Amino acid sequence: MELCNIAKVRMSSTLRINGPARVNGEITLPGDKSISHRAAMLASIAGGTSRITGFASSADCQATLDCIQKLGIPVRQKEGEVTIEGRGLDGFNVSAQPVRLWAANSGSTIRMISGLLAGAPITSQIDGDSSLRRRPMRRIIEPLRQMGAQIEASKDNFPPLLISGRQLKPILYRSPIASAQIKTCVLMAGLHARGKTTFVEPSPSRDHSEVMLPAFGVPVSVEPTTEGWKISIEGGHELMPVSYHVPGDLSSAAFFIAAALLGQGSNVAIKGVGLNPTRSGFLDTLERLGAKISRSNLRHSAGEPIGDLAILASELSCAGGTCEISGPLIANLIDEIPIIAVIATQVIGRLEVRDARELRIKESDRINTVVGGIRAMGGTIEEFEDGFAIQGPQKLSGARVQSHGDHRISMAFSIAGLIANGVTEIEDADCAAVSLPEFHNLLSCLAGEGVVTVIKE
Ligand code: S3P
Repeated sequence: MELCNIAKVRMSSTLRINGPARVNGEITLPGDKSISHRAAMLASIAGGTSRITGFASSADCQATLDCIQKLGIPVRQKEGEVTIEGRGLDGFNVSAQPVRLWAANSGSTIRMISGLLAGAPITSQIDGDSSLRRRPMRRIIEPLRQMGAQIEASKDNFPPLLISGRQLKPILYRSPIASAQIKTCVLMAGLHARGKTTFVEPSPSRDHSEVMLPAFGVPVSVEPTTEGWKISIEGGHELMPVSYHVPGDLSSAAFFIAAALLGQGSNVAIKGVGLNPTRSGFLDTLERLGAKISRSNLRHSAGEPIGDLAILASELSCAGGTCEISGPLIANLIDEIPIIAVIATQVIGRLEVRDARELRIKESDRINTVVGGIRAMGGTIEEFEDGFAIQGPQKLSGARVQSHGDHRISMAFSIAGLIANGVTEIEDADCAAVSLPEFHNLLSCLAGEGVVTVIKE
C-alpha cells in the first residue's frame, strides 16, 4: 500500500478531476481543527509553557494562533508542534488602544476566543473576512452580556466585535441550540467568573472542551438532565500548562472515507484519527448503511478516543428504502453533511437530512451550495428549508462546480468528481486550506497519476 505524505503544496484556483477513479493508499491527517483551537486558547491563559503536538495545519487554527500572538502571548511553531507561553488568566498584554484581532474565515476562533476576551483586562476588536462578517454572533453576545460583558457588534449581530473586558459573573445559560462553539465561549468566559457557570444544551454537541479542561486542571461536571445536557465549571482556577497530542481530524478524514467507499476497488487506511462519539455520527451512519469500515488500534490521546480506520469500497443502502438523518444526530455530523449529500447520490434508497437549518449559516449557505453543486453535476435533489432529500443511486456527470469559497463544499465536490463520468472542475478550490491545506496533494496521491490536477487561472 502506498504511503501518502502530507507535504503542503501551494494550491491554485481550479481543481480538475478526471472521473471515475478509485483511491488506494494510507494516510495520516493533520490534527483535529476543533481540538487544536481549544488547546491553543486554553494554553494562552495557562500559567506556563504548553507543548501541543499534531496541531492542525488549517488556516482557521493559524488564525487562532495569530490572535493569541497579537494578545502578547509568545507562540512558536515548527511542523505541527506549537509551544505557547501562557501567562495566566490575566496575562494578555494591556495596551491603550484596542488590540485588533483577525479571525479570517474562522467562526470557531471568533466565537470561542470572545469568551476569553470578555473577561480579560483589555479592549479588543475582532473581525474576519466577508464570509465571517455574515455569521451571526448574537448567539454568543447574549450569554456574554448576561455575564456582564461589554460587547458591541455591527447591527448587534455580526462581526466586527468590540469587546471591553470586565469582571464577569457566573450564569446558568440555557442554549436554544446544541452548539459547541456557544458552549465553549460560555465556558471560556466562565473561567474568569467567580463561581459556577453552567451551560445547558438540548442535546450533546462535540465535547472537546469538557474533555480538555480537566487536563489544564479545571474540573468539569457533565450531567444529563430532563432539561438537557448540563455542563458546569468553577471560575477563578489558575490553569496548568500541558503537553498535549491532537488526534487526526475526523472531519477531514470524512472526504477520503467517502472517496474510498464510493470508488470501485478502493482501499484506504487512515491512521490515528479522532473517534470521539460526539463527532462520529458520520461513521456511525455510514456503518448503518453497510459501509465496510473497520476501526482498530483503539486508544486514547489526552482523553480523546482515537484509532486507525480501514475503508473498503462498499454498496450502501437504506434499509426499507428510506433513511433519515435528523434530530440530535445532526450536531454529531454537522460538518460532514456536504459530503453526506455526495454519498447519498450513490446510496440505494432515499436519504433525507432534516433539522439542519444551521447549515444555512455556515461558511456558505450549505443547503443551497450543496443543492447547486449536485444539480450542476446532473443529479436530482429536493431542497427543504432545514435540509434536503436525495433518491439514489444516480449518475453524476463531470461539470464546473463553484466552491463558494467554502472549504467543505470545495472538498465534497472534489470527491463527487471522483465518482462522476468525465471532467469536473472545482472553481476557487484553494479554500480547502481553511481546514486542510494538504487536501489536493493527498487526494492526488491516493487517486494516482493523471486524476487530480491543479490549474492556475
Ligand atoms: C465547532 C462546532 C460546530 C462546527 C464547527 C466547529 C467547534 O459549530 O460546525 O465547524 O469546534 O466547536 P456549532 O457550534 O456552531 O454547531
